[in-house]
Amino acid sequence: MAQLTTNVDPRSAEYRENHAAFEQRLLLLRDRLRYAATGGRDAHAARHKARGKLLVRDRIDLLVDPGSPFLEIAPLAAWGQYDNEVPGAGLLVGVGIVAGAPCMIIANDATVKGGSFYRETVKKHIRAQEIAEANRLPCIYLVDCGGANLPQQDQVFPDKDHFGNTFLRQCRMSASGLPQISAVFGGCTAGGAYIPALSDEVVMVRGQARIHLGGPSIVKVAINEDIDGETLGGAEMHTRVSGVSDYLAADEYEAIAKLREIIASLGIERNIAPPRPVVPPRIGAETLTGVIPVDRRKPYDVREVIARLVDASDFIEFKPEWGETLVTGTARVHGFSVGILGNNGSLHSDSSLKAAHFISMCDQRGIPLLFLQNISGFMVGSEAERGGIAKNSAKMVYAMATAKVPRFTVIIGGSYGAGNYGMCGRGFWPEFLFTWPTAECATMSADIAANVMLELRRGSVSKGTPDQSELGGIDAAVRAQYAEQSDPYFATSRLWDDGIIEPAQTRDVLGLCLALSLSAGDQPRRDTRVFRM
Ligand code: COA
Repeated sequence: MAQLTTNVDPRSAEYRENHAAFEQRLLLLRDRLRYAATGGRDAHAARHKARGKLLVRDRIDLLVDPGSPFLEIAPLAAWGQYDNEVPGAGLLVGVGIVAGAPCMIIANDATVKGGSFYRETVKKHIRAQEIAEANRLPCIYLVDCGGANLPQQDQVFPDKDHFGNTFLRQCRMSASGLPQISAVFGGCTAGGAYIPALSDEVVMVRGQARIHLGGPSIVKVAINEDIDGETLGGAEMHTRVSGVSDYLAADEYEAIAKLREIIASLGIERNIAPPRPVVPPRIGAETLTGVIPVDRRKPYDVREVIARLVDASDFIEFKPEWGETLVTGTARVHGFSVGILGNNGSLHSDSSLKAAHFISMCDQRGIPLLFLQNISGFMVGSEAERGGIAKNSAKMVYAMATAKVPRFTVIIGGSYGAGNYGMCGRGFWPEFLFTWPTAECATMSADIAANVMLELRRGSVSKGTPDQSELGGIDAAVRAQYAEQSDPYFATSRLWDDGIIEPAQTRDVLGLCLALSLSAGDQPRRDTRVFRM
């Protein structure tokens, strides 16, 4: 086993400059995460608490085992959209350990637009369910949800990956033996009502939880019936009369205790412990911030990153002398074996073929793959084309797309063009995809895109000859568009990833993801439906 060393000197001016610039990015990330968690809704949070309700993060804190890890997914969904009035898309999701069992927790935040569903809320809910299904995780829904956000209905309601799809997934997961359990904490109307109604077991909080397909105002308009919310859909009525709920809880604490009891009673046995003792890297992950150059275009050796991510900094490099723009090799992360592919420049024919070889070999040996993306794209030009870059890059894509082992992607820098595809971008369904605050994702750089668009305009047959001021306008507009859209917050807001993480957290995040993916196969699959009676 070869041990990676470092050529980065933490006392150098360059290290200090990189570190200082990265620290600024981390401060921005923490600030935005803080805002998404609690900011911008003081009046709603105060009203929520005055009603005796717990905030969504406090509910989760009580639900999960004390001191256990919680892997939050897409905390900055909807960031910067809707005047930033929908932090986290009004939904908190993540993998947590409940009564010893890893579970997917999907929790509405009623302090954000009544927990109603925006486009990103639906996307986040579905992403959580996808992760649950792939990793065989029971789902716990903490429901406090006004259903579809009505002004957004065209974005959330009828299409194949809109709100209805969350219910399809809920039914199918239940039928495949993945328990779907709900606790209801507030008013749940229409779509919000179906989350508990389609669950295997439901707890409702007395005097607080309500479930109705149509609330009092809808009932009044539809059938001219005057009725208050509690009588129409309160916890006592649903637990004693309709049977929509199975358990009546005196308060939120009792509801959460009941959820823990239900999960404990499932008898889930799942070993997520690492197969080997976990050895930290010999070079501390906290120094990653000094490794990544301030200027993204400045090259650096991805082995410096690998050395700070893998156990004991041990790395068996594959084909180190060939296809040098891609580093490939095996290592362990938190005791789990992984095959790593990290970019050291743009992908050429040889590095693409090396990737295809390495991926197929890991697949044959059952070794999960980790892609560290910092890629400007595949090589262009006559030499590259004559060397068959199109078919050779396609071999890499083919091998990666068809590999049966779990695949994980971290975008640590650039993620441009087909390079994003070859290195297992979102479209290739890696089990998890996280980014660093240094990530930039776009079809190409702003420079090249502006040139292409100017060229297209000059050659346009329909628009006539452009003058300088029009060309200047196109150049400025393309650059502004690319600057805005390649920002990692633009990407994470739209759930092109599972979240932006700090470099120093990457190892732990990957360790948890590996533990979940690799233990999923041991969980029983059933074909048994549960009908609520
Ligand atoms: N669509 C759009 N906005 C909604 C919404 C929905 N379905 N549900 C709630 N909101 C908004 C409210 O307009 C309010 O916005 P504001 O913060 O800008 O003032 C915010 O969410 C909080 O709503 P409010 O009614 O003050 O909160 P509440 O805690 O007293 O009640 C609900 C929460 C969900 C019970 C209640 O808002 C409700 O019944 N909403 C309508 C639900 C409905 O009919 N859904 C049908 C979907 S098909």
